Amino acid sequence: MSVVTLERLLQAEGLGSRRECRGWIMAGAVSVNQQPVTDPQQTFPRDGSLLSFNDEQWFSQTKLTVLLHKPAGVECSHNPSHHPPVHQLLPIRLRQRGLQCVGRLDQDTTGLLLLTDDGALNHALTSPKHHIPKTYLVTTAHALTPKMLADLLAGVVLRDDPHPVFAQAAEPVDSHQLRLVITEGRYHQVKRMLAAVGNRVVALHREAIGALTLPPDLACGQWATLSAQQHSLLAN
Ligand code: URA
Repeated sequence: MSVVTLERLLQAEGLGSRRECRGWIMAGAVSVNQQPVTDPQQTFPRDGSLLSFNDEQWFSQTKLTVLLHKPAGVECSHNPSHHPPVHQLLPIRLRQRGLQCVGRLDQDTTGLLLLTDDGALNHALTSPKHHIPKTYLVTTAHALTPKMLADLLAGVVLRDDPHPVFAQAAEPVDSHQLRLVITEGRYHQVKRMLAAVGNRVVALHREAIGALTLPPDLACGQWATLSAQQHSLLAN
C-alpha cells in the first residue's frame, strides 16, 4: 500500500496547495485516525487514513466517486453558461479534486448523478460499447398510448442521426408517466425519443445506473461517497 507524507496526502485530497496544507498541519488543525498530527512530514497510507479537518471527517481515497441527488437548475459542467455548476453542491475539498460528471444530465433533469476522478470507471459507465442501462422516470405532457410505448421499444430515429435508438424497457406508471431504460447516452436522448413518438417530456428523473439506484434517504441536493458495495453494483 502506498504511503505519503501528510502534506501530500491532504493536497491529493483537494485541501489546497502543499504549502497551505503544511500550514494547517503545523497550526494543529488536522487529525489523522483521531490523533492530532502537527508534523507535515509524518507518513500515512494514501488510502484509508481517517482525516479530520474543518469539522469534517472522511477516509482518504486515491480514487473517489461521489453519488449526488441532482436538483433541477444546475449544470453538469465546470464552465456552465446559464446555471450554477453541480460542483457547487460539493464541499471545496471535493470541488478541488477535479471530479468529472459520469455522463451528463440536462439542467432540468433530477436524480442520480455520479462524479468521479476514476477515469476507468467513468469510461466503463459511459462508453456506448458497454451498454450500461440507465433508468429514468419520465413525465409527459400528453397521455401515453400503447403505440408510443411500442414505438420506443421498436426503435425511433432521431432527427440528426439515421441509426434508430431503442428503449430496453418502457413501462407505463400512469397515464402521463413511464419508466424508461436506455443503454446509450446521446444528447437529450430521452426528450428526443419522446418527441419522436409524438409526446413531450415535462419532467425527467434518473432513478438508476446499472443496478445502482438513487438511495431513498439521499435528499435532493445531497451527496454521499460511493461505498464499496454500491461500487460493486455498477460492475454488474
Ligand atoms: N435524456 C435527456 O433528454 N436528458 C437527460 O438529462 C438525460 C437523458
